[in-house]
Amino acid sequence: MEWQKLYKEKCMSVEKAIQFIHSNDRVALGQAVGVPLAITDAMVAHKEDYENVEIIQMVSMGNAKFSEPGTEGHFKLNSLFVGAQSKPAVKEGRGDFTPCSFSEIPNYLTELHPVDVVILQVSPPDKHGYVSCGVSVDYTLPAARAAKTVIAQVNKNMPRTLGDTTLHVSEITAFVEIDHPVLELALPKIGEVEKAIGEHCAELIKDGDTLQLGIGAIPDAVLLFLKEKKDLGIHSEMISDGVVELIESGVITNARKNLHPGKSVVTFLMGTKRLYDYVDDNPSLAMYPVDYVNNPYVVGQNDNLVSINSCVQVDLMGQVASESVGYTQISGIGGQVDFVQGARISKGGRSIIAIGSTAAKGKISKIVPLLDEGAAVTTSRTQVDYIVTEYGIAHLRGKTLKERAKALIQIAHPDFQDGLKAEYEKRFHCRYE
Ligand code: COA
Repeated sequence: MEWQKLYKEKCMSVEKAIQFIHSNDRVALGQAVGVPLAITDAMVAHKEDYENVEIIQMVSMGNAKFSEPGTEGHFKLNSLFVGAQSKPAVKEGRGDFTPCSFSEIPNYLTELHPVDVVILQVSPPDKHGYVSCGVSVDYTLPAARAAKTVIAQVNKNMPRTLGDTTLHVSEITAFVEIDHPVLELALPKIGEVEKAIGEHCAELIKDGDTLQLGIGAIPDAVLLFLKEKKDLGIHSEMISDGVVELIESGVITNARKNLHPGKSVVTFLMGTKRLYDYVDDNPSLAMYPVDYVNNPYVVGQNDNLVSINSCVQVDLMGQVASESVGYTQISGIGGQVDFVQGARISKGGRSIIAIGSTAAKGKISKIVPLLDEGAAVTTSRTQVDYIVTEYGIAHLRGKTLKERAKALIQIAHPDFQDGLKAEYEKRFHCRYE
C-alpha cells in the first residue's frame, strides 16, 4: 500500500489513539524536550480507563501528570532519571527509580523487560514515508522499533534530524497530528563561580579534542573559554545552544575526529528554537540511538575524548555522588559513567567532574570527608580522573589515598579547608603539610 494511504488510515483523534494502551501495560514515553505531552495528558484525563499501567521515562519535562497524587492504581512511574517533574512522585512513594546507565536503557526496554507500548513525538513524514524522532532519538527510537504498539504525536515543529533517526509509517500503530512549539529550555545563568570553573576546564582541553558536555551553567561556562581553540569535535549524549555558537564561529569543526569526521554526534538535544532550527535537516549533525552514542567502546574510539560532567559530592577518596543527596534521589546516572569509561578507553582521553565548591549558598562543602549516609556512588574512585572547582584542578587518577585527599582539599572552598585537613590528619595518622 502507498505510504500516504497507510498514514491517512492511521491518523486519528488522541482519544482513539490512547485506546491502544491497556491496563497492566508497560509504556515507555519519549523524554526531555521530545515528551509527547498531548498524548500523555489525554491518557491522564481518561485515567479511569486504566489500571496498573507502568510509565517508564527518562527526563520528564513539561509535566508528569501521570505521577501526580490521584493517579495511584492507574499509573505507576518508573523514572530512569529523576528531575523536577518526577522528584515528588519518587520521594513520596508513588513512583520508583531504576538505576541504569543511559547506554543500557534500550536493552532494558527491548530485551530485559520489554515494553508493550511506546509513545513519542515525531516530525511529519518525508516524501518516502519516514518520520524523524527529531530532538530525542536516545532510547525512544530503539524502543519504538521493538514495541508491539507505537503511538506518535506528529508535530510539524519537530525538526527532521539526520543520522539514524527515522521510523517508517508502517512501523507506527497510530498517529495523532497536534502542532505546538517544541519545548524549550531557558539558557542558564552563568555566574563568577561557573566562569572560574569553565576557565579551569578549558585549561584541560587541547586543540583537536572531541568533547562531551552535560547540560547547565557549568558546561555553558566551559564553552565561553574555548573560543581560541581549534578544530574541536563533538561526540556527546546531548548538546545545547552554546555548541551551535562554537560551530558557527569555526571553533568546532569535527575535522580531526577519527570517528565520524566532519560530524557532531549526539543522541538528544535540549535548547531553544535557535538550536532546533540549526539541527533541522543539517547533515553536519548525526544523531543515533543512545546504545551506540553512549556505548563506552564507541565513545572510546574517539581519540582525545574529554568528558565534562557534574556531581553533588566528592569524598576524600574521590568517590563521586551525582544523583542523590543522602537518601533522596534528585537526578540519575544519565551518561556520566558511560563517558567516564569511554574517556578512559579513548587514546589521550580525559574525564572531568566539574563542580562549584559549595552548595546551599556556601553553607555546605561539596568536597566532604564521607558521602552523606544513603548517597549512591555514581563514578567510583577507580574510574575518577579530574575534579575541577572554581579553586583549581585535582588530578586523582593514579594517585594514592593521601595524595587524592590533599589534591581535593587544595580545591575545596577555603572556609572548609581546615575541617578537611583535620579529617586528613585523623584518617592518615600524620600531619597535613
Ligand atoms: N548537599 C546538599 N544539596 C546539594 C548538594 C550537596 N552537596 N549539591 C547540590 N545540592 C542540591 C542543590 O542545592 C540543588 O537543590 P535545589 O534543586 O533544591 O535548588 C540540587 O541539589 C541540584 O544541585 P545543582 O548544583 O543546582 O545542580 P546542577 O544543575 O548543577 O546539576 C547534577 C548537578 C549533579 C544534579 C547534574 O549534573 C547531574 O544530574 N549529574 C548526573 C548525571 C550526569 O552527569 N549526566 C551526564 C550529562 S547530562
